[in-house]
Order: sequence, then structure tokens, then C-alpha cells
Amino acid sequence: MIPSGLSRRILLCGAASLLTLPAAAQAKMKIGIIGSGRIGGTLARLWAEAGYPVMMSARDIEEVRPRAAKIGHGAQAGTPAQAAAFGDVVLISVPFGALPQIGKDYARELKGKVVLDTCNPYLGRDGEMAKDALERGTGIVNPTYLPGTRLVRAFNQINAAALASDAHRADEKIGVPLAADDKAALEIAKRLVIDAGFEPVVVGGLATAKSFDPGNPAYHTMTARELRAILKLKS
Ligand SMILES: NC(=O)c1ccc[n+]([C@@H]2O[C@H](COP(=O)([O-])OP(=O)(O)OC[C@H]3O[C@@H](n4cnc5c(N)ncnc54)[C@H](OP(=O)(O)O)[C@@H]3O)[C@@H](O)[C@H]2O)c1
Repeated sequence: MIPSGLSRRILLCGAASLLTLPAAAQAKMKIGIIGSGRIGGTLARLWAEAGYPVMMSARDIEEVRPRAAKIGHGAQAGTPAQAAAFGDVVLISVPFGALPQIGKDYARELKGKVVLDTCNPYLGRDGEMAKDALERGTGIVNPTYLPGTRLVRAFNQINAAALASDAHRADEKIGVPLAADDKAALEIAKRLVIDAGFEPVVVGGLATAKSFDPGNPAYHTMTARELRAILKLKS
């Protein structure tokens, strides 16, 4: 079945060949951002600089408008609903406790879309729902809050300062662990990690996201090589 929201062009190219597409073709993939804070706001900048059409959002659009203008490169500002509708891919980067509301309020716009989920549960901040997610793993629990999406766990383990300062560094790249059940969504996430200036490290299906959830040795900013060693991954 053809997932809604992704451009026909991307589908015709096929996920496997997506990584080999020239940047100009890749750049046609639109990215909506729900939660334009330290993580979402920085990724908005990095992807806009890489040539992607980006729409940042905040609940108060007036707050995000000047930030989108400052980024330039055609970055737009919108409401969360507009960003969800705009993106072929939607980054969700909000406090963990907001996930159920976002999954409900924007279910129609998010349906069938590739969603990159950075949201981490913290007991002190998010209470009982964090306890459940930490026990079962975010890769298992978060999709229950965002049903009908093609969810990829991504950018949850790199700290905001490194995201802002270490993109595209000449030295060994910082690794970004990814977990997804949807192979085509995973390929898209890999491309977006590379174009943001980092190195994707595919850990496995959604169940494996637990290995880089908060509290685990892999839940720290490190190079891709270090990450593979800690997670005992071959490539
Ligand atoms: N900071 C880090 O180093 C880091 C690293 C990796 C992952 N994470 C995780 O990624 C997520 C975002 O972290 P962050 O540090 O970027 O947080 P942040 O700076 O506090 O930004 C969160 C954003 O979410 C928006 N937001 C809050 N509630 C919302 C709702 N109900 N609907 C729509 N937007 C909402 C806020 O915008 P408005 O309130 O203006 O609408 C704010 O811009 C968290 O789950 C965090 O645990 C953080």
C-alpha cells in the first residue's frame, strides 16, 4: 500500500535508492517540525541549510516566526497542525508528556507519515507514563501514542549542545542511533541524519530503541564508532 503523505516521486525511486539520490532531489522532501525547541529548532536550521523545505511550529506562531526568518533558506513558521500537514516527514520533539495530546490532535495530518521521534521519558518530569516507557522501551510505547505513523526513534540520544555545534564536523562524526520497524522510513531517517551532519547508526527494529533510552550506557553523545562498540553492532 502506498503510504499517504510521501511524494510519489520518492516512492517511485524506492527507499533503497533514496540514499543515492542527488541532494537536489532529496531536497524536495518537506519536513514539518512539532516542537521547535533546543532539538527541533536546531534540526530545523540544519535541514533548511541542507536545502529541505522546513516548517517549524509552536503553539504560539508569533514566537516561532522570527526564528524561522532568522534561519532563512525558505524556512517557514506554522501551527503544529500546519507543520504536521506540511511535512512528508514530521519531526516530533516535545516534552514526553505532550505525546498523547499530539497523537490525538494531529492524527489526521500524521496518518501514514514518517515520524522522527526524539521524545524521552523522564520520571521527574513525566511521571507514570515515563515509568511505563522506560520499562517497556520508547520504541514500543511511543507508537501507541502516535498510532498510524511510520515511527523512527531518532535524535533522542544526542545532547542539544552537540547537535548545535558538532554537525558536519571534519573529525569523526557523532553517531545518531536509529530504530524503526518500517524499512523505507528508516532509509529516509538515515538520509536526514547524514544531511544534518551526523552519522546514522542503525540499531534495529523499534524494540531495540530501549538500548539507547535514558539510563543506558548508549544514551550519551559519542562518535558513531563508539556507539557501535557500546551497542555491539558490526556496522
Ligand atoms: N535537550 C536535549 O539535549 C535533548 C536531547 C535529545 C532528546 N531530547 C528530547 O527531545 C524532546 C525535546 O527536547 P528539547 O530539549 O528540544 O525541549 P525544549 O527546548 O523544551 O522544546 C520543546 C518544544 O516543544 C514545544 N511543545 C511543548 N508542548 C507542546 C505541545 N503540546 N504541542 C506542540 N508543541 C509543544 C515547545 O513549544 P511551545 O511551548 O512554544 O509551543 C518547545 O518548543 C524532549 O522529549 C527531550 O527529552 C532532548
